[in-house]
Parts: sequence; C-alpha cells; structure tokens
Amino acid sequence: MAAEYDVIGPWTEVKLDILREYAGPYSQIVTANGFHHLYIDAYAAGGAHVSHTTGEVVPGSPLVALSTKPPFREYHFIDANPDRVDQLRQYSGDRTDVHVHPGDCNEILIRDVFPLVRYEDRKRALCLLDPYNIDLSWNVVAAAGRMKSIEIFVNFMVMDMNMNVLLRDPARAEATQIARMDRFWGDSSWREVAYEVSRQGSLFGEPEQVKVESANEKIAEAYRKRLINVAVFAYAPQPLRFVNSLGATIYYLFFASPNKTGNKIVEDIFKKHRMKQGL
Ligand SMILES: C[S@@+](CC[C@H](N)C(=O)[O-])C[C@H]1O[C@@H](n2cnc3c(N)ncnc32)[C@H](O)[C@@H]1O
Repeated sequence: MAAEYDVIGPWTEVKLDILREYAGPYSQIVTANGFHHLYIDAYAAGGAHVSHTTGEVVPGSPLVALSTKPPFREYHFIDANPDRVDQLRQYSGDRTDVHVHPGDCNEILIRDVFPLVRYEDRKRALCLLDPYNIDLSWNVVAAAGRMKSIEIFVNFMVMDMNMNVLLRDPARAEATQIARMDRFWGDSSWREVAYEVSRQGSLFGEPEQVKVESANEKIAEAYRKRLINVAVFAYAPQPLRFVNSLGATIYYLFFASPNKTGNKIVEDIFKKHRMKQGL
C-alpha cells in the first residue's frame, strides 16, 4: 500500500493510548449488557501514522478501534481526504462491519451515522471527534448529546484558536476566523469568556476589550459546562491538557457521556495521564 503517513508527536500517541484504554472496557461493558455498539471515527485519517519518537509505523485511531476486544458490532470511519479514504478501504478489506464514508463529517454524522444509534433500539456508540483544528461544528456535538446513546471524545485545538481567533486585540481577528470559532462553539458567547473590558481604559476613553488572564483554562471550563448545559450530556469530566515541549497548550481532550460508569473510567484514565505528565 503506497500510504502517506502523518508523523505524529508523543501527545498524539498518548491520545491513541487513551482511546485504547477506554475502548476496551467500553466495548466489554456494552457487550455484556446486550447493546449493539458502534465505533465512529469522524476525522479518521488513513488508519496509521509514523511515530516521531521511534520512526515506526503505529496504528492510528481506526486501527486501534479495529483491534478492540471484544470487537464493536459496527465501525464507521469518515475522512474528507480521498487518499485517506482509499487507505481506510484497504485496511477494512471486504469486512461488512466496517463502513468508510468519504466527505465532511459535519454533514455525514448528522445525516447518515448518528441516526443509526437510536437509544430505543438499544444502540450505543463511542465517537472520536479528532480534527486538526477548530473546524468541528457544535451542531455535531449537540446532536450527539441529544441522542443519549453516544459518548464522545473531542479534541479542542486550542492552538488554532489562539493563533487565529483569540488575539490579544480582538479587533484584529478576521471575520472568517470569528465565524469558525462561532461554529465550533455554537454561538458567540466565547467572547464573554475570553475578553473583558480593560481596567485601564483606552487612550481615547472608549471601553477597550482585552484578553482575560488564563484564557485557555477559562475557555476550556466554559466549553466543558456547555457540554453539560447546552449539549445536555450528563457527564463531562475535566479535560486532559496536552502541551508541547515549550509548555504551551496544544489542545484539550474532552470526554462527554450520558453514562456514569463511562465517566468514571475516563476520569481515572485522564488522572493517570495527568500524573504521568506532571500536570
Ligand atoms: C488529526 S487527523 C485524525 C487522526 C486520527 N484520529 C488518528 O488518531 O489516527 C485529522 C483528519 O481529519 C480529516 N478531515 C479534515 N476535515 C475533515 C472533515 N470536515 N470531515 C472529515 N474528515 C476531515 C483530515 O483529512 C485528516 O485525515
């Protein structure tokens, strides 16, 4: 297979470990309770990557999911890149339990995949939402929450937000970037979290908006509360923060679930990784 791989940093390998550590117990519990369960990978990529640390090819999230024991009853992989879709199709071969969907997951999830996970049909799903940036629509997150049958991991790419939207001077952010953030957040209330009126005022006496102290943490906590209060997930533990070698936050990995047991398991997994990272 002439596959093109992403080279992934250690934080991506940790994210894949977390998926592995949760998918096993999740699959075991829902299988034991007689549910028909799906694994949904919305930004699936091609199935494998090259580790920056070792130089070796390592399984990406679709292959991690496919190796879960006991297996999921159905796998749904979505990617917008046709080459990655081809790679996914080669990995899945002629398996009838694996469905590869080419295109924009923001449309495909709501139109084709989430309707397969009706609570009343005893369907359940674990869904990974792992974009490179903040181009995930809140409508997807809200739709998952309403289903009451879907648990999600969401990668909130804080670095994209900080580079393009949450500038020190909010007046300098481009309208297209603000629109991306509104779509990710679901409305424009993120502004009230990220900015405040300067206590010093401006040169011309007009009220001036400045970025709040600890903006990342405040935005993350506000997003977590939205998962519960707006997307109506029963549980959303503190997210796991991923930092680069300079200590800057790259992204937060959120989890949201209608299920108490799932929440407890992920809280413990996040706690273990926080301790490992000394966070
Ligand atoms: C960060 S990678 C996913 C990595 C993968 N989850 C893993 O851990 O192995 C993001 C992927 O999303 C795909 N992508 C970008 N925008 C998309 C969209 N709107 N819908 C579906 N896939 C998209 C890209 O082609 C890329 O393969």
